[in-house]
Amino acid sequence: MKRFRLNREFSLPLPKPRASQLPELQTGRLLLRPWRRSDDRDLFAYARDPQVGPAAGWPPHTSLADSRKVLERFITGDEPVYAIELLRTRTVIGSVGIHRDPRRSGEHARMLGYVLSSEYWGQGLMPEAVNAVAASLFSQPQIQVLSIYCYSTNPRSRRVALKCGFQYEGTLRQGTKRFDGALLDDECYSLLREDYQRAKAAEAV
Ligand SMILES: CC(C)(COP(=O)(O)OP(=O)(O)OC[C@H]1O[C@@H](n2cnc3c(N)ncnc32)[C@H](O)[C@@H]1OP(=O)(O)O)[C@@H](O)C(=O)NCCC(=O)NCCS
Repeated sequence: MKRFRLNREFSLPLPKPRASQLPELQTGRLLLRPWRRSDDRDLFAYARDPQVGPAAGWPPHTSLADSRKVLERFITGDEPVYAIELLRTRTVIGSVGIHRDPRRSGEHARMLGYVLSSEYWGQGLMPEAVNAVAASLFSQPQIQVLSIYCYSTNPRSRRVALKCGFQYEGTLRQGTKRFDGALLDDECYSLLREDYQRAKAAEAV
């Protein structure tokens, strides 16, 4: 098995699991799997929606070509990104990215970023996906902390973080200048390995 150097500096890319090395994760309703080039239309279908991208910091896609470019980055980029496939329909309805945490140095931390097609909001699907990714990441001994950052204008994402056991840490006021020039406050949430394990142990009782 190929071994990767530890990521000790922000500038180094994360160890890159190739598409085939990203473990598939199945939940009750979802399959989290690597992206495929044939997912381009599913990606465009939700990424064109102005309710979706701007809440996560990126502009809506305006053409299938935009989605293909992003898809290429998902497939070949340095940071792993899961496609969220709805088992019932076999369509891809969102993504969960596993990123370097820009506010924490070291390879013990990962930041999660996620979006879901607005057609499927409010059914608890993203908490289901995030819980599966958290379990998978904490099965790796070096991972000690996961983070989620959301704009203070995004109560839905805040709820996902809290429902998945992440704790509010504070707000970085005007932490982001978005693509459209908006200055937004970043709310910071994190989940420590020890808290995750304690919660899992309590659930098991
Ligand atoms: C944030 C997001 C992933 C939530 O996913 P989800 O699967 O809908 O999450 P949930 O079903 O747990 O819903 C989260 C909360 O939003 C509320 N909500 C969901 N859809 C809603 C809607 N259309 N209108 C109002 N509230 C809504 C839910 O009631 C829930 O709160 P509750 O647990 O107190 O009831 C999704 O809204 C999304 O993709 N938004 C755009 C991109 C984005 O914001 N990404 C995160 C960037 S940090």
